[in-house]
Amino acid sequence: MIRAGRDDDAADICAVVAGCWGEYPGCVTDIEGEAPELLAIATHCARRGGAVWVEEIDGRPVGLACTYPLPDGAWEIAKVYLARPHRGGGAARDLVETAEAFARAHGATHARLWSDMRFDRAHTFYEKLGYVRSGPIRALADKSNSIEFGYAKPLSGVVVERLDAAGAASAESALARVLVACVDDGASVSFFPPMAMRDALAFWRKVSSAVARGEKILLAAWLDGAIVGTVQLDLATPPNQPHRADLAKMLVHPAARRHGIGRKMLARIEAEGAVAGKWLLTLDTLADSNAEALYRAGGWTECGLIPDYALDFDRTTPRATMLFYKRLQQPLPR
Ligand SMILES: CC(C)(COP(=O)(O)OP(=O)(O)OC[C@H]1O[C@@H](n2cnc3c(N)ncnc32)[C@H](O)[C@@H]1OP(=O)(O)O)[C@@H](O)C(=O)NCCC(=O)NCCS
Repeated sequence: MIRAGRDDDAADICAVVAGCWGEYPGCVTDIEGEAPELLAIATHCARRGGAVWVEEIDGRPVGLACTYPLPDGAWEIAKVYLARPHRGGGAARDLVETAEAFARAHGATHARLWSDMRFDRAHTFYEKLGYVRSGPIRALADKSNSIEFGYAKPLSGVVVERLDAAGAASAESALARVLVACVDDGASVSFFPPMAMRDALAFWRKVSSAVARGEKILLAAWLDGAIVGTVQLDLATPPNQPHRADLAKMLVHPAARRHGIGRKMLARIEAEGAVAGKWLLTLDTLADSNAEALYRAGGWTECGLIPDYALDFDRTTPRATMLFYKRLQQPLPR
């Protein structure tokens, strides 16, 4: 059961936090010296304009999460801890989603959090909830010598953002789930269904390393805090085509289609391409598909059909691909 946290939960909350920190080497628990806010967590969060929740089992708190506003319109999600015996049942997810819903209801645009570099299981957890690594790391002057990754995500509506190398690497599993869902739904995007998650993860690792090398621009789209879409622009064209880039892997999760997500990603990737000095974008896509309709609607020019280009998901029937291009408003480099 999730309920509002109270100051008199302090003893149980401190025990939960100490237990979690004790799982990682070098993490020192000094509540009075370094985390006195845990001794009156409800008052602490209320003073910051936020709130705290606990997961209660048999009358005792076994986990918590809190949230409060930051100066720039984002809300921080903090103090996410769940005692080990109670993990795996969705309680931590419920706690974070409760905090996110509160932040959203109070007008939060983004959620942000910090997570110690050592807390690798927490990173997987946040990444499943749609968070991506964002901004620089920070070092705390504490007894644990903590170094923390920043994570963030948009909370409401459709938001498209560009991922840098750290963001791309942290989004691999979320993007793999989108790719698997699209392929299994019959999308013609290089793979046959059923697509194994490990193949999808291997694909996105290649993409994030290309992002890190500056060879690709990668976008992710969130719908109410979940990653549901992606598209990429391949900048690594030959020397005599410095002005051209290839658009690829425009994907929207089947459950999130026809909400304008594809259109929004298309507009943003075109803008990113222009900023990168690309004024001619090209792509190929399955003829007579949703994607063909999207590119036409986005003002792309079709320039031909190649018959029998790729096999359909039955692994047998060849299907045609349609070539498209779009000129952006940018002069020829001289
Ligand atoms: C193509 C795809 C990305 C579109 O995503 P989406 O978020 O549903 O697209 P949008 O909601 O932004 O649609 C924008 C416009 O595209 C066109 N469109 C998109 N899907 C369409 C469909 N199923 N039928 C007809 N038109 C469609 C419409 O003009 C639409 O505008 P409208 O909704 O105002 O009529 C999605 O269907 C997808 O992931 N398909 C599988 C993967 C794929 O084939 N990718 C292309 C690789 S090159």
